Amino acid sequence: MKASFDGMRVVAFESRRAKEIERLIAYYGGIPQVAPSMREVPLSETTQAFEFAEELFNGKIDVVILLTGVGTRTLIEIVTTKYSRDKFIESLKNTTIVARGPKPVSALRELGLKPDIIVPEPNTWREILSSLDSTLPLNNKTVVVQEYGVSNTQLLDGLRERGATVKPVAVYRWALPEDIKPLVDAIHSISSGKVEVALFTSSQQVYHLIEVARQKELEKPLREGLKRVVIGSIGPTTTETLKNFGFTVDYEPNSPKMGNFVREIARRAHYLLTRKQIAYSNGVDTGQWKRIDMIWYKDAPEKKVNNSVFIKACNREPTDYTPIWLMRQAGRFLREYRELRARVSFLELCKTPELAAEVTLMAVDRLGVDAAIIFADILLILEPLGVELEFSKGEGPRIKKPLRSTKALDTLREFNPDELDFVYKAVEISRRALAPEIALIGFAGAPFTVASYLIEGGSSRNYENTKGLMYRDPEAWHVLMDKLTHATLLYLNRQIDSGADAVQIFDSWVGCLSPEDYRDFVLPYMKKLIQGIRPGVPVIHFGTGTASLLDLMKEAGSSVIGLDWRIELDKAWKRLGYDVAIQGNLDPAVLLAPPSEIKRRAIRILDKAAGREGHIFNLGHGVLPGTPVDNVLTLVDTVHEYSSMRKKTNDQSL
Ligand code: CP3
Repeated sequence: MKASFDGMRVVAFESRRAKEIERLIAYYGGIPQVAPSMREVPLSETTQAFEFAEELFNGKIDVVILLTGVGTRTLIEIVTTKYSRDKFIESLKNTTIVARGPKPVSALRELGLKPDIIVPEPNTWREILSSLDSTLPLNNKTVVVQEYGVSNTQLLDGLRERGATVKPVAVYRWALPEDIKPLVDAIHSISSGKVEVALFTSSQQVYHLIEVARQKELEKPLREGLKRVVIGSIGPTTTETLKNFGFTVDYEPNSPKMGNFVREIARRAHYLLTRKQIAYSNGVDTGQWKRIDMIWYKDAPEKKVNNSVFIKACNREPTDYTPIWLMRQAGRFLREYRELRARVSFLELCKTPELAAEVTLMAVDRLGVDAAIIFADILLILEPLGVELEFSKGEGPRIKKPLRSTKALDTLREFNPDELDFVYKAVEISRRALAPEIALIGFAGAPFTVASYLIEGGSSRNYENTKGLMYRDPEAWHVLMDKLTHATLLYLNRQIDSGADAVQIFDSWVGCLSPEDYRDFVLPYMKKLIQGIRPGVPVIHFGTGTASLLDLMKEAGSSVIGLDWRIELDKAWKRLGYDVAIQGNLDPAVLLAPPSEIKRRAIRILDKAAGREGHIFNLGHGVLPGTPVDNVLTLVDTVHEYSSMRKKTNDQSL
């Protein structure tokens, strides 16, 4: 939790800011070994580019293959230090331009040029050769290949085999340092297990490390070594380069600033190292692994959470600090989630256990929270009941045929919990891959809130149709609630059997009811539901706008009650009595405020909870999609740090 390497040995490859990263590593408790891996090359030294330009002007080049966007831009920059930009662009038009994917295409667009051939995905050397084969005979052609990083010999050989004269043009802005001894030492440290963490702050560092390893015939031991150390990458480009070389990045910060990077990796390094070493010793290929490949317990994968601060708080047992997780912690505010969603629809994501588990785990890795919540949706339960469901872009969920009449209720099918097998599978995978101290929360919508979607067809302001049915035909209402309660109970217990350590019941919209109506139309079902949950498993009962319903919610009998932000935590808890645990209750919109304000308001809530056993920090409702991830990190850190300090002082004063 504390941002400290605690004596771990950390290798970094930064050059220009070598001193700074060395200081940062030491500041966060690590032992630094910095191996500067790059030297900036003056543009005038890059003769290959000038030779290329001259031959181009003389009409000696037939084909130009552009491999990267950065390389294309750098090439132009170099050439135009000596020659006219217009002349260069005009001469390029006389060649066949091949762009390897979208990045060189956009670099060309900036010059007003269009490629003649765009290489299709996944843009490897194989696709380059096959697109040329289908369009352009290469025999006796002169082909220039713009290179960035390490030369791709397979591509160059393939072109030569087709009869081309190949001219690689390396356009590095960066070259190897004059003294490569520090790099060689770093390779030895990694391969002999003398360091535990390796930090990459640019993709060029990766190319150079590999290049030196190849030169010294140390590539194999380097690769083996990197499977056993924590790999930190400053940002997405570096991560991609590492991935292309076959290394899995263990941590990439949300914002690519060096101080932030070193601090965040220091905070997680021990955990990440343990995880990687356990995986390695379990025979997982830690060069290329996904979160869901992780197995903490090789012999007893069914073993559940142990020593979890979250579960202790649910049971009102003492903890060293206040645990925190956030409703909707796995969602659109995470870049990785949005990237995944660009490829698959929401329902597909929910129904593919490996992907749902990946998202569940991603939120914990990214945010450092104390519990994971399984990635699913409260409305999934409707499909096995025979109700068609749709999640359209931007509008939220839609029920195709809302059930508005008493008669329509008869169309609901008998619930078979097996139809939600994909959820149980996701629970199983997630539990196996989650660190043993992180709890996994299963969930379902409460019967009332699910009924409101079923009847309204989507979100609603006044719940007219729902209340309409309830008042007009109470008998039908009770039949519906009974069916939903039965289904939800089977569903939640199956999640528990698959590895959920606790469950939360979302009654998000129940606050629209009067206390009398809650007592008559909802409470009996909540009681039945909560009583039916497997004994010993904590149940969190959450709703919004429930200030006037809290006493009744307590009667329903859950171990934890979730509060929204419209009520003060201390007053609510006092009213409920201290024999129930409390979850909440920061306004999600506070996460849009500056860090100082987030801290102030988080501390105010912790002070209201007064260090009492049984508080789980959460928002009063889900994270808003526009929330900056760094603000969530500020919140998580504040809750952990302030509460642990507070508990220590409390203990001392006793
Ligand atoms: O991280 C988590 O909390 C786990 C996943 C989770 C989702 N939905 C994923 C989701 C959970 C716990 C829910 C519960 C849920 N779903 C509730 C109760 C909690 C609450 O917010 O009150 C409700 C009412 C729903 C129904 C629902 N699903 C709505 C209203 C919407 C659209 C609005 C929105 O926030 O997008 C959804 C879609 C949904 N469920 C998304 C996610 C990540 C967004 C889908 C997308 O990627 O486009």
